[in-house]
Amino acid sequence: MSSFEALEQLHHQALAELVDAATTEALKGWEDRYLGRKGQITQQARTVGQMPKEARPAFGRRVNEIKTLLEQAYETRLAEIRNAELQTQMTREAIDVTLPGRPMVPGHLHLTIQALRELYDIWAKMGFEVYEAPDVELEAYNFDLLNIPEYHPARDMWDTFWVKGTNDQQAGDRRLLRTHTSPGQIRVMRERYPEPIRVILPGKCYRYEQITVRAEHQFYQMEGLAVGRAITLTDLIGTVTQFSHLYYGADRQVRVRSSYFPFTEPSVEVDTQCILCGGEGCAVCKYTGWLEIAGAGMVHPVVLENGGYDPDVWSGFAFGFGVERPAMQKYGVEDIRLFYGNDLRFLRQF
Ligand code: DAH
Repeated sequence: MSSFEALEQLHHQALAELVDAATTEALKGWEDRYLGRKGQITQQARTVGQMPKEARPAFGRRVNEIKTLLEQAYETRLAEIRNAELQTQMTREAIDVTLPGRPMVPGHLHLTIQALRELYDIWAKMGFEVYEAPDVELEAYNFDLLNIPEYHPARDMWDTFWVKGTNDQQAGDRRLLRTHTSPGQIRVMRERYPEPIRVILPGKCYRYEQITVRAEHQFYQMEGLAVGRAITLTDLIGTVTQFSHLYYGADRQVRVRSSYFPFTEPSVEVDTQCILCGGEGCAVCKYTGWLEIAGAGMVHPVVLENGGYDPDVWSGFAFGFGVERPAMQKYGVEDIRLFYGNDLRFLRQF
């Protein structure tokens, strides 16, 4: 076979193999075999020097032509393969834009927070600002300064979570989780003296109690305190009545019964006509027609004094509302444990 024939054969062989190369790797192998530094076409070009002189120009030209042709064929094939690979990838990663979307469920405020904010709004309208006191409290603020000395029987009303590691402290300095929001009264008085005061003190309270459908060991209270120079029991009654009208509706009557708390004198309990039956009597009000909504009273002189206010000059009223119970009555929630059970089926309803 002449060198020319061998060259043409190589040309055809290369073109045939190029068609078979189906991936970019196979194509790279093909390029190495024919056009690379040690490739067969490159080697053909090197044989020119050993040829008889008259054959050299024609052979050299033909080698170069074939090289150019193969290079062009290579580029074309490369483009085809890339295209095919891209097609495969696009099919594999295809997105069906006609599929229905997955709706994002927007979150919302917890029922308790909604209830608190509603209460803030009402009290703000009546001129009460929010004052926040700590959850971990000194024994003195929670009890002693509120006229509940150690061994006072009223301490039994507030079964207490004590903070570990503080029980070797002096009585009064021990720490506890506040059992009610009333200790905030002492804090706000000591901070504001000698200004008049009109605040609400919302917050979580803790009691070491059996959990039932009506009692949790954590719950919110909304305390209130007003201190001034001429505040009387009628101011208290007017204020809680106005509150009840704004929260429960103006058609609900309010009544005040005498009661006992160590930090108020006189002490009262405030009832409103049942929001469900309107006073007719039902399961929620235990067929009395009334719901208890707050404990309240005139701030005890000892407590005023502990807050730094001279009881001969100053007087005040205080009240303590529940937060979850009114919300339960309002929304017909029958189990207080649902509030902190974190069950979305419950929480989403509000
Ligand atoms: N601290 C009381 C409790 O937890 C509620 C209370 C009653 C608060 C009378 C008051 C009040 O401010 O005057 O049961």
